[in-house]
Amino acid sequence: MHIFQEIRPLKAFLEQIRKGSGTIGFVPTMGALHPGHISLIQASQKDNHKTICSIYVNPAQFNNAADLAKYPRTLERDLELLRQQGCDAVFCPSNAEMYATDSILKFDFGYLNTEMEGRYRPGHFSGVALVVSKLFNIVQPDVAYFGQKDFQQFKIIERLVSELKFEIALKCMPIVRESDGLAMSSRNARLSKENRTKAAQLYQALLFAKEGLSKNKSMADIRSQVESQFNSVGGIQLEYLELVDSTNLLPLENVGDKSILLIAAYVGEVRLIDNLLLT
Ligand code: PAJ
Repeated sequence: MHIFQEIRPLKAFLEQIRKGSGTIGFVPTMGALHPGHISLIQASQKDNHKTICSIYVNPAQFNNAADLAKYPRTLERDLELLRQQGCDAVFCPSNAEMYATDSILKFDFGYLNTEMEGRYRPGHFSGVALVVSKLFNIVQPDVAYFGQKDFQQFKIIERLVSELKFEIALKCMPIVRESDGLAMSSRNARLSKENRTKAAQLYQALLFAKEGLSKNKSMADIRSQVESQFNSVGGIQLEYLELVDSTNLLPLENVGDKSILLIAAYVGEVRLIDNLLLT
């Protein structure tokens, strides 16, 4: 497995692959890899000649300095996992390599970034769009793989690719879950044993909401019942629970053709997100 910390040698390597007419699949990550990430690597390996993974904890997308400082960093273990998986190359740049000049570029995706994650994490999606644009320009993959786990992020990247005319196909892969339903996340490692058990409540809340909607309950009622449930368990703070159209993220009153439920909550000090497609 080739490991690159600098852009120039990575580009030379990728150029060789393109000359041999191989397709390049790309999986951008922030490391602390788990089976959710590995599922993206496997999807890429199935579709492409070569698979490149990036590991970079992008400061520009953290609106909270403490969250950035506490983000798990397990590079050696990550590289070993990728090696075992047969990943062809890894790009793990330094901050200086990615942000050689302070960036003043900001992205605004209108409605796509004012609600849900955008509302609670101002500036987050601008930082995501910035680093993904840089990575796409550097790697120029044929296909890039993202997880449905970060559904709003996927919609933003779809828009980025379409507006900036990146010639990159995007794939959104299903959420990989723990046996109790908790969506796998690098942040789960920060949960205490007790909070790890409580964290399954997010997925339970999505299932409860799905069931309630099928019985014509309103989202307002469902939300307040979920809040009561979280309060009775204790230590879980709901940020949002929304039913939206999965094509444009606009809020819905009732389940339609393409609906998705999205949730965010703090379990102790750890902020978790999850979602459930209803179609
Ligand atoms: P990160 O949180 O490391 O996630 C990398 C990719 O793995 C994302 O596309 C995410 O949706 C996917 N992923 C995470 N958990 C998953 C799960 N349980 N099942 C399936 N896929 C899962 O998302 C980021 O990094 C960053 O914002 C990034 C796009 C790399 C830009 O910095």
